[in-house]
Amino acid sequence: MRILSIVGARPNFMKLAPLDRVLASHPDLEHVIVHTGQHYDRNMSDSFFDDLGIPEPHYNLEVGSGSHAWQTGAIMQAFEPVCKDVGPNVVLVFGDVNSTVATALVAAKLGIKVGHVEAGLRSRDWGMPEEINRVVTDRLSDLLLTPSPDADENLRAEGVPPERIHFVGNIMIDSLVYALPRAVEFNAAGNRDLSPGEYSVVTLHRPSNVDDPESLEDLMSALEELSCSSPVIFPVHPRTKTRLESIGWVGSDSADLRLLAPVGYLEMLSLVQSSGMVITDSGGLQEETSFLGVPCITVRPNTERPITCTEGTNQLVVPRGEAIVEAAGLAPGRRIEGGAKIDKWDGNAAERIVEVFRSAGL
Ligand code: UD1
Repeated sequence: MRILSIVGARPNFMKLAPLDRVLASHPDLEHVIVHTGQHYDRNMSDSFFDDLGIPEPHYNLEVGSGSHAWQTGAIMQAFEPVCKDVGPNVVLVFGDVNSTVATALVAAKLGIKVGHVEAGLRSRDWGMPEEINRVVTDRLSDLLLTPSPDADENLRAEGVPPERIHFVGNIMIDSLVYALPRAVEFNAAGNRDLSPGEYSVVTLHRPSNVDDPESLEDLMSALEELSCSSPVIFPVHPRTKTRLESIGWVGSDSADLRLLAPVGYLEMLSLVQSSGMVITDSGGLQEETSFLGVPCITVRPNTERPITCTEGTNQLVVPRGEAIVEAAGLAPGRRIEGGAKIDKWDGNAAERIVEVFRSAGL
Protein backbone atom coordinates (compact mmCIF):
# COMPACT_ATOMS: atom_id res chain seq x y z
CA MET A 1 0.00 0.00 0.00
CA ARG A 2 1.39 3.39 -0.96
CA ILE A 3 0.31 6.41 1.08
CA LEU A 4 1.07 9.91 -0.17
CA SER A 5 0.97 12.60 2.53
CA ILE A 6 0.80 16.29 1.75
CA VAL A 7 2.09 19.04 4.00
CA GLY A 8 2.58 22.70 3.24
CA ALA A 9 2.13 25.01 6.18
CA ARG A 10 3.43 25.06 9.76
CA PRO A 11 0.42 23.46 11.49
CA ASN A 12 0.61 20.47 9.14
CA PHE A 13 4.04 19.30 10.22
CA MET A 14 3.17 18.20 13.76
CA LYS A 15 0.26 16.18 12.32
CA LEU A 16 2.48 14.41 9.79
CA ALA A 17 5.30 13.44 12.17
CA PRO A 18 3.51 10.78 14.28
CA LEU A 19 2.01 9.17 11.23
CA ASP A 20 5.36 8.95 9.48
CA ARG A 21 6.87 7.33 12.57
CA VAL A 22 4.11 4.72 12.80
CA LEU A 23 4.16 4.00 9.07
CA ALA A 24 7.92 3.41 9.23
CA SER A 25 7.23 0.47 11.55
CA HIS A 26 4.95 -1.21 8.96
CA PRO A 27 7.23 -2.52 6.19
CA ASP A 28 4.33 -3.24 3.81
CA LEU A 29 3.18 0.39 3.91
CA GLU A 30 5.14 2.82 1.76
CA HIS A 31 5.01 6.48 2.74
CA VAL A 32 5.73 9.26 0.25
CA ILE A 33 5.84 12.85 1.55
CA VAL A 34 5.12 15.89 -0.60
CA HIS A 35 5.79 19.42 0.72
CA THR A 36 3.96 22.05 -1.31
CA GLY A 37 6.27 24.87 -0.20
CA GLN A 38 3.36 27.02 1.07
CA HIS A 39 5.62 27.81 4.02
CA TYR A 40 9.29 28.02 3.15
CA ASP A 41 11.18 30.12 5.75
CA ARG A 42 13.51 27.99 7.85
CA ASN A 43 11.70 28.92 11.05
CA MET A 44 8.26 28.20 9.52
CA SER A 45 9.18 24.84 7.95
CA ASP A 46 12.64 23.18 8.07
CA SER A 47 13.09 23.67 11.81
CA PHE A 48 9.86 21.67 12.37
CA PHE A 49 11.20 18.79 10.26
CA ASP A 50 14.34 18.81 12.43
CA ASP A 51 12.53 19.07 15.78
CA LEU A 52 9.95 16.44 14.88
CA GLY A 53 12.36 14.04 13.17
CA ILE A 54 10.44 14.07 9.87
CA PRO A 55 12.56 12.86 6.93
CA GLU A 56 13.28 15.12 3.96
CA PRO A 57 10.15 15.22 1.75
CA HIS A 58 10.38 13.14 -1.44
CA TYR A 59 9.04 16.09 -3.43
CA ASN A 60 9.00 19.83 -2.73
CA LEU A 61 6.69 21.76 -5.04
CA GLU A 62 8.24 25.08 -3.92
CA VAL A 63 5.06 27.00 -4.58
CA GLY A 64 5.53 29.84 -2.07
CA SER A 65 3.24 32.76 -1.23
CA GLY A 66 0.51 34.48 -3.21
CA SER A 67 -3.20 35.25 -3.16
CA HIS A 68 -5.46 32.36 -2.19
CA ALA A 69 -6.54 31.63 -5.76
CA TRP A 70 -2.99 31.90 -7.07
CA GLN A 71 -1.53 29.70 -4.33
CA THR A 72 -4.28 27.08 -4.57
CA GLY A 73 -4.02 26.96 -8.37
CA ALA A 74 -0.22 26.79 -8.34
CA ILE A 75 -0.28 23.90 -5.86
CA MET A 76 -2.82 22.03 -7.99
CA GLN A 77 -0.78 22.44 -11.17
CA ALA A 78 2.45 21.38 -9.51
CA PHE A 79 0.89 18.45 -7.63
CA GLU A 80 -1.02 16.77 -10.47
CA PRO A 81 2.02 15.32 -12.31
CA VAL A 82 3.62 14.24 -9.02
CA CYS A 83 0.44 12.49 -7.92
CA LYS A 84 0.20 10.66 -11.26
CA ASP A 85 3.85 9.72 -11.05
CA VAL A 86 3.62 8.33 -7.50
CA GLY A 87 0.29 6.54 -8.08
CA PRO A 88 -0.71 6.23 -4.41
CA ASN A 89 -3.56 4.13 -3.00
CA VAL A 90 -4.53 7.09 -0.86
CA VAL A 91 -3.64 10.78 -0.69
CA LEU A 92 -3.61 11.95 2.90
CA VAL A 93 -4.22 15.64 3.64
CA PHE A 94 -4.03 17.41 7.00
CA GLY A 95 -5.96 20.25 8.61
CA ASP A 96 -7.41 23.21 6.77
CA VAL A 97 -4.72 25.13 4.90
CA ASN A 98 -4.68 25.97 1.19
CA SER A 99 -2.32 23.03 0.49
CA THR A 100 -4.96 20.71 1.97
CA VAL A 101 -7.87 21.68 -0.27
CA ALA A 102 -5.72 22.10 -3.41
CA THR A 103 -4.24 18.61 -3.28
CA ALA A 104 -7.48 16.92 -2.17
CA LEU A 105 -9.14 18.33 -5.29
CA VAL A 106 -6.37 17.06 -7.56
CA ALA A 107 -6.49 13.55 -6.06
CA ALA A 108 -10.28 13.34 -6.17
CA LYS A 109 -10.29 14.31 -9.86
CA LEU A 110 -7.66 11.66 -10.59
CA GLY A 111 -9.95 9.11 -8.97
CA ILE A 112 -7.56 8.52 -6.06
CA LYS A 113 -8.95 8.03 -2.56
CA VAL A 114 -8.51 11.00 -0.22
CA GLY A 115 -8.03 10.71 3.55
CA HIS A 116 -8.51 13.86 5.64
CA VAL A 117 -6.80 14.04 9.03
CA GLU A 118 -8.68 16.47 11.30
CA ALA A 119 -11.93 16.13 9.36
CA GLY A 120 -15.27 17.52 10.51
CA LEU A 121 -14.20 20.64 12.41
CA ARG A 122 -16.50 23.59 11.76
CA SER A 123 -16.38 27.20 12.95
CA ARG A 124 -19.46 28.05 10.85
CA ASP A 125 -17.63 31.25 9.93
CA TRP A 126 -17.58 31.37 6.15
CA GLY A 127 -15.43 34.50 6.33
CA MET A 128 -12.47 32.34 7.38
CA PRO A 129 -10.54 30.84 4.46
CA GLU A 130 -9.87 27.76 6.60
CA GLU A 131 -13.62 27.06 6.99
CA ILE A 132 -14.03 26.99 3.21
CA ASN A 133 -11.02 24.68 2.98
CA ARG A 134 -12.45 22.34 5.65
CA VAL A 135 -15.89 22.00 4.10
CA VAL A 136 -14.57 21.46 0.57
CA THR A 137 -11.87 19.01 1.67
CA ASP A 138 -14.35 16.93 3.66
CA ARG A 139 -16.71 16.81 0.67
CA LEU A 140 -13.86 15.45 -1.46
CA SER A 141 -12.67 12.88 1.09
CA ASP A 142 -13.33 9.16 1.31
CA LEU A 143 -11.81 8.62 4.76
CA LEU A 144 -12.81 11.30 7.26
CA LEU A 145 -10.48 10.94 10.23
CA THR A 146 -11.91 13.01 13.07
CA PRO A 147 -10.34 14.34 16.28
CA SER A 148 -13.46 14.65 18.45
CA PRO A 149 -17.13 13.55 18.58
CA ASP A 150 -18.39 17.05 17.63
CA ALA A 151 -16.61 16.60 14.29
CA ASP A 152 -18.47 13.31 13.70
CA GLU A 153 -21.75 15.06 14.46
CA ASN A 154 -20.97 17.89 12.03
CA LEU A 155 -20.23 15.42 9.25
CA ARG A 156 -23.35 13.34 9.90
CA ALA A 157 -25.44 16.53 9.87
CA GLU A 158 -23.98 17.33 6.44
CA GLY A 159 -25.07 13.94 5.15
CA VAL A 160 -21.69 12.20 5.06
CA PRO A 161 -22.28 8.43 5.08
CA PRO A 162 -21.34 7.07 8.54
CA GLU A 163 -19.00 4.43 7.08
CA ARG A 164 -16.68 7.20 5.88
CA ILE A 165 -16.33 8.76 9.34
CA HIS A 166 -13.63 7.42 11.68
CA PHE A 167 -13.10 8.93 15.12
CA VAL A 168 -9.35 8.44 15.53
CA GLY A 169 -8.54 11.22 18.01
CA ASN A 170 -6.18 14.15 17.92
CA ILE A 171 -2.96 13.40 16.09
CA MET A 172 -1.32 16.66 17.14
CA ILE A 173 -1.43 15.37 20.71
CA ASP A 174 0.63 12.37 19.50
CA SER A 175 3.43 14.82 18.65
CA LEU A 176 3.01 16.65 21.93
CA VAL A 177 3.16 13.49 24.05
CA TYR A 178 6.22 12.30 22.15
CA ALA A 179 8.10 15.61 22.40
CA LEU A 180 7.10 16.78 25.88
CA PRO A 181 10.08 15.29 27.79
CA ARG A 182 12.49 16.97 25.35
CA ALA A 183 10.53 20.22 25.55
CA VAL A 184 10.77 20.24 29.34
CA GLU A 185 14.50 19.61 29.09
CA PHE A 186 14.79 22.48 26.59
CA ASN A 187 13.89 24.84 29.46
CA ALA A 188 12.93 27.72 27.17
CA ALA A 189 11.63 29.76 30.12
CA GLY A 190 14.85 29.44 32.12
CA ASN A 191 16.92 30.29 29.03
CA ARG A 192 14.99 33.53 28.74
CA ASP A 193 15.06 34.36 32.47
CA LEU A 194 11.37 33.70 32.88
CA SER A 195 9.84 32.14 36.00
CA PRO A 196 7.51 29.19 35.36
CA GLY A 197 3.85 30.24 35.50
CA GLU A 198 4.71 33.92 35.59
CA TYR A 199 4.65 34.88 31.96
CA SER A 200 2.26 34.67 29.01
CA VAL A 201 2.80 33.42 25.47
CA VAL A 202 1.07 35.14 22.55
CA THR A 203 0.56 34.26 18.89
CA LEU A 204 -1.64 36.30 16.55
CA HIS A 205 -1.68 35.92 12.78
CA ARG A 206 -5.26 35.66 11.51
CA PRO A 207 -6.03 38.27 8.85
CA SER A 208 -9.13 39.22 10.89
CA ASN A 209 -6.90 40.22 13.82
CA VAL A 210 -3.79 41.64 12.23
CA ASP A 211 -4.78 43.11 8.86
CA ASP A 212 -6.77 46.06 10.21
CA PRO A 213 -4.28 48.65 11.57
CA GLU A 214 -6.64 50.01 14.24
CA SER A 215 -7.53 46.61 15.61
CA LEU A 216 -3.88 45.49 15.57
CA GLU A 217 -2.87 48.63 17.46
CA ASP A 218 -5.61 47.98 20.04
CA LEU A 219 -4.52 44.35 20.54
CA MET A 220 -0.86 45.34 20.86
CA SER A 221 -1.69 48.00 23.45
CA ALA A 222 -3.56 45.40 25.50
CA LEU A 223 -0.57 43.02 25.36
CA GLU A 224 1.68 45.85 26.43
CA GLU A 225 -0.62 46.63 29.35
CA LEU A 226 -0.53 42.97 30.45
CA SER A 227 3.25 42.90 30.14
CA CYS A 228 3.56 45.65 32.75
CA SER A 229 2.64 43.04 35.40
CA SER A 230 4.42 39.95 33.95
CA PRO A 231 6.44 39.30 30.79
CA VAL A 232 4.62 38.58 27.52
CA ILE A 233 6.48 36.48 24.94
CA PHE A 234 5.24 36.91 21.37
CA PRO A 235 6.84 34.90 18.53
CA VAL A 236 5.69 36.90 15.50
CA HIS A 237 4.36 35.23 12.32
CA PRO A 238 5.71 36.77 9.05
CA ARG A 239 2.28 38.19 8.17
CA THR A 240 2.01 39.92 11.57
CA LYS A 241 5.59 41.18 11.30
CA THR A 242 4.77 42.91 8.01
CA ARG A 243 1.62 44.45 9.51
CA LEU A 244 3.48 45.68 12.60
CA GLU A 245 6.09 47.26 10.36
CA SER A 246 3.43 48.97 8.31
CA ILE A 247 1.78 50.54 11.38
CA GLY A 248 5.25 51.52 12.66
CA TRP A 249 4.74 49.72 15.97
CA VAL A 250 7.29 50.67 18.65
CA GLY A 251 6.92 49.21 22.12
CA SER A 252 7.12 51.29 25.26
CA ASP A 253 10.21 51.00 27.48
CA SER A 254 8.21 50.41 30.66
CA ALA A 255 6.54 47.25 29.27
CA ASP A 256 8.00 43.74 28.94
CA LEU A 257 6.40 42.66 25.66
CA ARG A 258 9.06 40.60 23.88
CA LEU A 259 8.61 40.20 20.13
CA LEU A 260 10.60 37.22 18.78
CA ALA A 261 11.02 35.60 15.38
CA PRO A 262 8.85 32.44 15.04
CA VAL A 263 10.26 29.70 17.28
CA GLY A 264 10.58 25.97 16.52
CA TYR A 265 8.27 23.24 17.77
CA LEU A 266 10.27 22.20 20.84
CA GLU A 267 10.95 25.73 21.99
CA MET A 268 7.29 26.70 21.58
CA LEU A 269 6.06 23.63 23.44
CA SER A 270 8.61 24.33 26.16
CA LEU A 271 7.48 27.96 26.46
CA VAL A 272 3.78 27.05 26.49
CA GLN A 273 3.97 24.18 28.97
CA SER A 274 5.50 26.33 31.70
CA SER A 275 3.58 29.52 30.92
CA GLY A 276 0.85 31.07 33.06
CA MET A 277 -1.44 31.62 30.11
CA VAL A 278 -1.59 31.69 26.32
CA ILE A 279 -3.30 34.34 24.20
CA THR A 280 -3.72 33.21 20.61
CA ASP A 281 -5.75 32.95 17.43
CA SER A 282 -4.10 29.67 16.39
CA GLY A 283 -6.11 26.46 16.06
CA GLY A 284 -3.45 24.10 17.38
CA LEU A 285 -2.62 26.07 20.50
CA GLN A 286 -6.23 25.82 21.70
CA GLU A 287 -5.76 22.06 21.74
CA GLU A 288 -2.22 21.96 23.09
CA THR A 289 -3.05 24.26 26.02
CA SER A 290 -6.12 22.17 26.91
CA PHE A 291 -4.04 19.01 26.95
CA LEU A 292 -1.41 20.72 29.11
CA GLY A 293 -3.99 22.39 31.39
CA VAL A 294 -2.67 25.88 30.62
CA PRO A 295 -5.37 28.61 30.43
CA CYS A 296 -5.92 29.81 26.86
CA ILE A 297 -7.59 32.98 25.62
CA THR A 298 -8.56 32.63 21.98
CA VAL A 299 -8.94 35.98 20.30
CA ARG A 300 -11.75 35.01 17.95
CA PRO A 301 -15.55 35.19 17.98
CA ASN A 302 -15.85 31.45 17.24
CA THR A 303 -13.86 28.23 17.16
CA GLU A 304 -13.92 25.05 15.12
CA ARG A 305 -12.60 23.31 18.24
CA PRO A 306 -15.47 23.77 20.77
CA ILE A 307 -14.34 20.78 22.85
CA THR A 308 -11.40 22.90 24.06
CA CYS A 309 -13.93 25.30 25.64
CA THR A 310 -16.31 22.67 27.04
CA GLU A 311 -13.71 20.18 28.30
CA GLY A 312 -10.46 22.12 28.21
CA THR A 313 -8.98 25.44 29.28
CA ASN A 314 -9.99 27.55 26.30
CA GLN A 315 -12.09 30.69 26.36
CA LEU A 316 -13.16 32.73 23.35
CA VAL A 317 -12.71 36.48 23.65
CA VAL A 318 -13.77 39.10 21.12
CA PRO A 319 -10.82 40.82 19.46
CA ARG A 320 -10.85 43.95 21.60
CA GLY A 321 -8.04 45.02 23.90
CA GLU A 322 -10.14 45.66 26.99
CA ALA A 323 -11.89 42.27 26.67
CA ILE A 324 -8.52 40.53 26.52
CA VAL A 325 -7.18 42.33 29.58
CA GLU A 326 -10.33 41.43 31.51
CA ALA A 327 -10.20 37.76 30.45
CA ALA A 328 -6.49 37.58 31.31
CA GLY A 329 -7.29 38.62 34.89
CA LEU A 330 -9.64 35.65 35.28
CA ALA A 331 -7.59 33.13 33.28
CA PRO A 332 -5.57 31.56 36.14
CA GLY A 333 -8.85 30.14 37.55
CA ARG A 334 -9.20 27.97 34.45
CA ARG A 335 -5.93 26.08 34.87
CA ILE A 336 -6.45 22.29 34.95
CA GLU A 337 -3.77 20.54 36.98
CA GLY A 338 -2.54 17.50 35.06
CA GLY A 339 -4.30 18.71 31.89
CA ALA A 340 -7.74 18.06 30.42
CA LYS A 341 -8.58 14.40 29.74
CA ILE A 342 -10.25 14.36 26.35
CA ASP A 343 -11.30 11.11 24.69
CA LYS A 344 -8.63 9.81 22.26
CA TRP A 345 -6.25 12.70 22.86
CA ASP A 346 -3.75 10.18 24.11
CA GLY A 347 -0.79 9.90 21.75
CA ASN A 348 -2.21 6.97 19.76
CA ALA A 349 -4.19 8.64 16.97
CA ALA A 350 -1.62 7.74 14.29
CA GLU A 351 -1.90 4.03 15.20
CA ARG A 352 -5.67 4.28 14.86
CA ILE A 353 -5.32 5.94 11.44
CA VAL A 354 -3.19 3.03 10.22
CA GLU A 355 -5.86 0.60 11.49
CA VAL A 356 -8.41 2.53 9.41
CA PHE A 357 -6.21 2.12 6.31
CA ARG A 358 -6.00 -1.62 6.97
CA SER A 359 -9.71 -2.12 7.52
CA ALA A 360 -10.60 0.06 4.52
CA GLY A 361 -8.60 -2.44 2.42
CA LEU A 362 -6.98 0.26 0.33
C1 UD1 B 1 -1.51 29.63 6.80
C2 UD1 B 1 -2.88 28.97 6.92
C3 UD1 B 1 -3.43 29.18 8.32
C4 UD1 B 1 -2.45 28.71 9.37
C5 UD1 B 1 -1.13 29.44 9.15
C6 UD1 B 1 -0.08 29.02 10.15
C7 UD1 B 1 -4.18 29.02 4.83
C8 UD1 B 1 -5.40 29.56 4.20
N1 UD1 B 1 -3.85 29.56 6.00
O1 UD1 B 1 -1.71 31.04 6.97
O2 UD1 B 1 -4.62 28.42 8.45
O3 UD1 B 1 -2.95 29.02 10.65
O4 UD1 B 1 -0.67 29.11 7.83
O5 UD1 B 1 1.08 29.75 9.98
O6 UD1 B 1 -3.57 28.12 4.30
N2 UD1 B 1 5.26 34.00 4.71
C9 UD1 B 1 6.62 34.09 4.87
N3 UD1 B 1 7.32 32.94 5.02
C10 UD1 B 1 6.74 31.72 5.01
C11 UD1 B 1 5.35 31.64 4.82
C12 UD1 B 1 4.62 32.79 4.69
O7 UD1 B 1 7.19 35.18 4.89
O8 UD1 B 1 7.45 30.70 5.15
C13 UD1 B 1 4.47 35.25 4.60
C14 UD1 B 1 4.22 35.68 3.19
O9 UD1 B 1 4.26 37.06 3.14
C15 UD1 B 1 2.80 35.21 2.95
C16 UD1 B 1 2.17 35.35 4.32
O10 UD1 B 1 3.21 35.05 5.23
O11 UD1 B 1 2.14 35.92 1.97
C17 UD1 B 1 1.02 34.43 4.56
O12 UD1 B 1 1.38 33.06 4.28
P1 UD1 B 1 0.26 32.02 3.79
O13 UD1 B 1 0.83 30.67 3.63
O14 UD1 B 1 -0.49 32.58 2.63
O15 UD1 B 1 -0.79 32.02 4.97
P2 UD1 B 1 -0.60 32.07 6.55
O16 UD1 B 1 -1.09 33.41 7.01
O17 UD1 B 1 0.74 31.62 6.98
